[in-house]
Amino acid sequence: MIDLHNHIVRYVVPVHRTEPDVSIAVQMARIAEEDGVRIIVSTPHLRPDRLGDRVPEIVELMSEGVVRLNQILRDREIDVEVVGGAEIQLTEDLPELASAGLLPTLGDGRHLLIELPIASYAGYAEQVLFELQLQGFTPVIAHFERLADAPVQEIQPEDLVQRGMKLQTNCRSLKGKRGREVKRAAEYLHRNNLAAGLGSDAHNPDSAPPRMSWSRKTIERLGGPGAFERITWERPLAIIGR
Ligand SMILES: [Fe+2]
Repeated sequence: MIDLHNHIVRYVVPVHRTEPDVSIAVQMARIAEEDGVRIIVSTPHLRPDRLGDRVPEIVELMSEGVVRLNQILRDREIDVEVVGGAEIQLTEDLPELASAGLLPTLGDGRHLLIELPIASYAGYAEQVLFELQLQGFTPVIAHFERLADAPVQEIQPEDLVQRGMKLQTNCRSLKGKRGREVKRAAEYLHRNNLAAGLGSDAHNPDSAPPRMSWSRKTIERLGGPGAFERITWERPLAIIGR
């Protein structure tokens, strides 16, 4: 499997409030390996409005973290590869940051994992997404189903897909831990073949671990035979440019 959304790198480099602790990163990678994950896409939060002029420094740290983490995993013979990326908060200056080369793509492709504002659908969101597309990037909307909770229901997943964007979904949303609306929205995406990738959105080894295989049955029941393979391998493989 490819885990398209994972915060493991915060335990390797100080890209977040969390204190780095390599032993936790190793623990998470072992859980992923045992679960059948072969590629983790590293997607730490990139929040330009909080970082201000520290964006270049943090982006640099993020890619350094990927290199370091791969070395750590090789040293311990953990059969998981980590590729770069970020969970990029949607802000008005994204097109500017993109043209300055400051937005980490998912792997080697031209895809950007974008977190839409959950409290309100910012008026500029559509414009920003479109401008990123004009620069040749494909926005992948992070855990799209979680927007079911927000006052943004006017965004139809079909519209975004039709406009060339992709939708990532969290496997944990299927457990209903984010509420019934989010669970229903996730089921809708799987039933209608609208998900381009699955993520664990792992934050730690305990309450948000990097496991995804448990969702195979549910996803195949919703999307039919082959659905799980499609969103945990075929589609994300193309997203990371392999
Ligand atoms: Fe996340």
